[in-house]
Amino acid sequence: MLLNKKILLCVTGGIAVYKAVALVSKLAQSGAEVKVMMTESAKEFVTPLTFQAMSRNDVYFDTFDEKDSRVIAHIDLADWADLVVVAPATANVIGKLANGIADDMVTTTLLATTADVWIAPAMNVHMYENKAVIRNIDRLHADGYRFIEPSEGFLACGYVGKGRLEEPEKIVELITAHFTTPRHLPLAGKKVVITAGPTRERIDPVRYVSNFSSGKMGYAMAEAAEALGASTYLISGPVGLAKPAGVTVIDVESAAEMLEAVRAQFDDAAIVIKAAAVADYRPKDVHPQKMKKQAGDSAIELERTTDILKTLGTMKTHQVLVGFAAETNDAVDYGKGKLASKNLDYIIVNDVTDPDAGFGKDTNVVTLLSKNGTHQPFHAMPKKELANVLLAAIMKEESEQLHDR
Ligand code: PMT
Repeated sequence: MLLNKKILLCVTGGIAVYKAVALVSKLAQSGAEVKVMMTESAKEFVTPLTFQAMSRNDVYFDTFDEKDSRVIAHIDLADWADLVVVAPATANVIGKLANGIADDMVTTTLLATTADVWIAPAMNVHMYENKAVIRNIDRLHADGYRFIEPSEGFLACGYVGKGRLEEPEKIVELITAHFTTPRHLPLAGKKVVITAGPTRERIDPVRYVSNFSSGKMGYAMAEAAEALGASTYLISGPVGLAKPAGVTVIDVESAAEMLEAVRAQFDDAAIVIKAAAVADYRPKDVHPQKMKKQAGDSAIELERTTDILKTLGTMKTHQVLVGFAAETNDAVDYGKGKLASKNLDYIIVNDVTDPDAGFGKDTNVVTLLSKNGTHQPFHAMPKKELANVLLAAIMKEESEQLHDR
């Protein structure tokens, strides 16, 4: 759930700095992108290189060491962060922040950020109970800063009492809970429209042309989007699946009905994913009565349906448009062709001849292609799991693009 969350960890000088190393490691393992900023005194305990290796990012400590001439580093980092955590937070940094003092990179960044700031104090028990420290903490509480209370136990100074930096596992738990409240979910406030299942094209009142799509892939995508906080619309052809909780399901039968329904939801959608297997042809004439059996063979004349995805590709303004391609040979090459000809941002290519992939299966094997030329193959996995992986990959690429702009 911390996937793509940007966490700035400000490390200040106390013996608990060693725990901050474990914190970075656990945050990174949970999918967060972590950048570390250190005070000069923190560097006396652990070198920046350790944090660089754990976070796989540059470590910042000198306000005047501008690594990128296009930005001012402390403002850029203040804007970049989804959450700033000060751990361990000394009495000194708490005092400076409570009084608006900005005399190094950490305190300057703390004043510049509009992200939530969490402070995890660690110090000697008597320092923690000092009236000035209590006053500063109260003031920061009133200013909207959140504190991760230190725990009680043996302190490095030999005392037993309150002042130990909370354990890294517990801090990660609190951060995860913070980001999984509905307003922090990655797709909160975004409308995601997904199509699923087959379409049925009527021949007469009792017969139709269709395909073997079960809807499993599209329904899994809808469940994944909903779990990520999206306002999810699932436009579904006729399938035998239970409606996913929380998702608005719009039932349709034919390609023409699906086109109509998708168009109605398109304008304010952020992401549109077309997992449905839409019929490319429909009977030219629909018989109002059941066709009677006749001697000899019979033929049904078919006409093209509208290509819904291609139509959306011409209407696209801000929407991220994602298609699927069901192929039986040269899957990636055909997928690339559809990505370009339908003006898509992404296409998810499945070779439906693979025994673990395609129509009706519980698993799928796909390659995600993007209009930027990225190419990510995914091994066989349950469609429900794959849906999460695909959404995460798309969101990651989208957020990197936004960041680059
Ligand atoms: O439903 P399941 O049993 O779980 O199976 C999943 C699946 C195999 C159906 C799914 O993974 C998949 O590949 N869906 C797309 C199937 C398909 O129609 O592929 P296509 O290559 O023919 O079409 C390419 C894209 O154009 C698709 O996104 C399709 O929705 C869209 N299209 C096609 C024709 C048309 N008239 N309008 C469209 O929008």
